[in-house]
Amino acid sequence: MVRILITGSNGQVGSEIIEFLKKTTDCNILATDITQPKEQVEGVQYEYMDVKERVLVESIFKKFKPENVYHLAAILSATGEKDPVVTHNVNSTGTINILSACVTNGVQRAFIPSTIGVYGPETPKENAPVDNYSLPTTMYGITKVTSEMLFKYYHSRYNLDVRSVRYPGLISYKVEPTAGTTDFSVDMIKHAAMGKKYTCYLKSDTRLPMMYMPDAMSNTMKLMYQDTVKRRVYNFMSYSTSPGEMEEIIRNRIPNFQVEYAPDYRQAIAESWPASINIEDSVNDWGFNCKFDLEKTIDDMLDHYTSPA
Ligand SMILES: NC(=O)c1ccc[n+]([C@@H]2O[C@H](COP(=O)([O-])OP(=O)(O)OC[C@H]3O[C@@H](n4cnc5c(N)ncnc54)[C@H](O)[C@@H]3O)[C@@H](O)[C@H]2O)c1
Repeated sequence: MVRILITGSNGQVGSEIIEFLKKTTDCNILATDITQPKEQVEGVQYEYMDVKERVLVESIFKKFKPENVYHLAAILSATGEKDPVVTHNVNSTGTINILSACVTNGVQRAFIPSTIGVYGPETPKENAPVDNYSLPTTMYGITKVTSEMLFKYYHSRYNLDVRSVRYPGLISYKVEPTAGTTDFSVDMIKHAAMGKKYTCYLKSDTRLPMMYMPDAMSNTMKLMYQDTVKRRVYNFMSYSTSPGEMEEIIRNRIPNFQVEYAPDYRQAIAESWPASINIEDSVNDWGFNCKFDLEKTIDDMLDHYTSPA
């Protein structure tokens, strides 16, 4: 039975990873966060752990002795701009604390997601290359570029098997996204399902890379189960879409759905990111593939909101 420690376990990704691991792996999970879980999953232990607190992190690792770690605690892009110092402390200091605890406690493999937020305005807008030399303009992006550099450092200096993916905007219904720049996708579908008008904080033609959560989970686990990987960081995306395109697809299903556009500070963040990113290495190295296109994603999300299981 593999011992797995998860940080940021109550978030959009953490709650899905716990469910996925419980279904697919014989595992003993310690789920950690600074908040209480909304519902406790049977067979999962929960513990308070602030990733900024190095001594606490070390002591929990020492006690639990994880073999695998999923480090998901982070402050995302839009919230990240509200307090750059806190964002830096959670995302950069938190990540080095986790990497260091992995080394001192002999962790076999760690997964730490990165983001399309590592790209900046000079990056090519379409098919942005995985080897990226552009500078991000958000604190979130700065901390994630730092983290990607730390993955390479900890791998080459300590031989730590740390694996990462740049998630695009993740669409899911289980736990709502907190405050990323791509969250309009979930909000819009939810408003449509509830028969409400939606006010979108991005312009209708702002295209961004996106992906449905079941595809994000299956591909994350596929990457984690490879014996070896050629790169520390891989790009993930299923489709590139905009609020306007989503509105049109939803209106084909819900004809009286209304959207108003009132761009705010998140428009500048979205415009600093590419509309699509290159996933060739993920496909060629370990067979990245997705089952849900945008229409299937919207249909599945609407089904879940209108007839929850
Ligand atoms: N959701 C997305 O669309 C998306 C896209 C790209 C990358 N990512 C990355 O995936 C990872 C998980 O993101 P998410 O969507 O689950 O975020 P989330 O905001 O839903 O969850 C993050 C969790 O971290 C916890 N947390 C915050 N500060 C903490 C601290 N100091 N110590 C411990 N826990 C703390 C929060 O309580 C929350 O439960 C992050 O690294 C994020 O950058 C997510």
